[in-house]
Amino acid sequence: MKTINTNLQSTNCITSNQYTLDNLLNLCKLTDNIKNIASTKEGLQYLKSLLPHKRAILYFKQASTRTFLSFQNACSILGISTSDVRDTSTSSEMKGETELDAIKTFSQYTDLIIMRHPDSEFIYEVSDCLNNLSNNTRLINAGSGSNEHPTQALLDFYTMYKYGLLEGKKIAFVGDLFRSRAVRSLALLLNKVSGTKLYFIAPEKYQIKNDILQQLNIDYELTDNIEKVLPEVDVVYMVRLQDEYKGFWNGEDFIDTKRYSINKNNINTLKENAIILHPLPRRNEISIEIDKNHRAKYWEQCQNGMWVRVALIADMFGIDKI
Ligand code: CP
Repeated sequence: MKTINTNLQSTNCITSNQYTLDNLLNLCKLTDNIKNIASTKEGLQYLKSLLPHKRAILYFKQASTRTFLSFQNACSILGISTSDVRDTSTSSEMKGETELDAIKTFSQYTDLIIMRHPDSEFIYEVSDCLNNLSNNTRLINAGSGSNEHPTQALLDFYTMYKYGLLEGKKIAFVGDLFRSRAVRSLALLLNKVSGTKLYFIAPEKYQIKNDILQQLNIDYELTDNIEKVLPEVDVVYMVRLQDEYKGFWNGEDFIDTKRYSINKNNINTLKENAIILHPLPRRNEISIEIDKNHRAKYWEQCQNGMWVRVALIADMFGIDKI
């Protein structure tokens, strides 16, 4: 087996900011290696033999399809058994148990907690709580309110890596950037790549928040002019209206997707080799007919999510050499 040392040096995945560029590139190489191994029955059996002594719980207090299922399948690929709490009406939180007591309970049974939670800050409380318990339970942030979604960013980064669209490339984010944890976490990862330029394309009230912009050391531009930017970029990253979170404004919560969308009228203004990404789920910001276009890579991106999560979990348990 090939040896790759990812050296992420972390047993938790909390925020995009914890990764260096070397960490990210090594995780991409480990992901490639794992995908390659998984292409044969013998390879899959080998992967399943790596962590059969580990157990994980998926604690998801917000809706999810991709993140939940890709983590569940990633665990299965590594031989890790899983349990889940998604509907707290069936858990002892209904009897008044605090969320932190629930977490302490999970840590008695499992080696890894994979958590999605509506409160942006709760992941840090859980991290402190587990550190104080000192029982080596790992923690993964599978989405923390509208603030961060670091594992989504890792799979987005990997997809761009696969197409050679990182260093010196131009990336446009389009849609409700104000509340997109996926965009926020990916912008923080791309901040590590020299020469990239980010375009944040949104109506003013949906623009990305200053706390992210203040952390960027790379070139960026804020605009509402999608028509002007599309022909210039290498990656277009679309996001839906995140109206499960309230904005701080009064009135209508609406983005004109006739304008802020990829559709048959503007698709060919993109470069021939540009790619279109979306964390999914989508609404109508990418027309269904675009799925057939050679630039549409969001279903591949979705599948990459499972393999990147296999690599991330393997690395967290010290299996950085496969
Ligand atoms: N991209 C993403 O987080 O999708 P889900 O909400 O379906 O998990």
